[in-house]
Amino acid sequence: MSFAEPCPGAIVCARNLTRLFRLGAGTVTGLDGVDLDIDPGAFVVLKGPSGSGKSTLLSLLAGLDTASSGELTVAGERLTGRRPADLTRFRREVVGMVFQSFNLLPTLNVLENVCLPALLAGRDEGAARRKAEELLERLGLAGRARHPADRLSGGEMQRVAIARAVINGPALVLADEPTGNLDSKNGEAVIELLARLNREDGVTVLLATHSDLADGVASRTLRIRDGRLIAPPCGA
Ligand SMILES: Nc1ncnc2c1ncn2[C@@H]1O[C@H](COP(=O)(O)OP(=O)(O)O)[C@@H](O)[C@H]1O
Ligand SMILES: [Mg+2]
Repeated sequence: MSFAEPCPGAIVCARNLTRLFRLGAGTVTGLDGVDLDIDPGAFVVLKGPSGSGKSTLLSLLAGLDTASSGELTVAGERLTGRRPADLTRFRREVVGMVFQSFNLLPTLNVLENVCLPALLAGRDEGAARRKAEELLERLGLAGRARHPADRLSGGEMQRVAIARAVINGPALVLADEPTGNLDSKNGEAVIELLARLNREDGVTVLLATHSDLADGVASRTLRIRDGRLIAPPCGA
């Protein structure tokens, strides 16, 4: 396949995607020539040791960072060579992100946290609130809507973060070690919620993790080491 040829039908299409970081006089390789196609509706688990490039790849896919070279298209939008303002709109409307550290706004309540991306995207306040309430109900958090975000347990915070990630109906959810700060019971609940959203709403999920918790729900497993995707062994 040629360098810039799009991958028909894929939601993620990366070609020779590379991210180098300048560090002092030298450079550090975050991602090294990654080629990747992901089909819509997939639940992809990305596994690799610490420092292997998982967060670097997810940041590029989220439009939070820009590649040093290569080509990247997500949900039909070419991200390489885009202006920062375009990437801001892309982040709000096309992808949802879930982080290890939850990243909720502690002074806002649960409902306000979940509504925020919808309001930033210019949605009507009443519609945003109704959608947020519906999501909180689905994610088992209806009773928590008016609680300050910093009063929740870690498992609840991550479920709120998932609701916030999907309120704008993203095509792709990127979850970066979402169970890293949770015990295994809460970790399993978070994986199950992501799996449900994938099954019921068809949202594509790419989940970076160290753990084996998502092995049972993955439709595909990718392995990364030293910034490079490793081809699975035959039969895997
Ligand atoms: N902003 C940065 N500046 C310099 N080096 C970075 C930066 N971000 C990541 N790296 C380096 O890129 C490599 C991949 O990091 P990362 O994607 O965070 O790995 P992972 O998420 O798999 O733990 C590591 O060597 C890391 O030190
Ligand atoms: Mg990381």
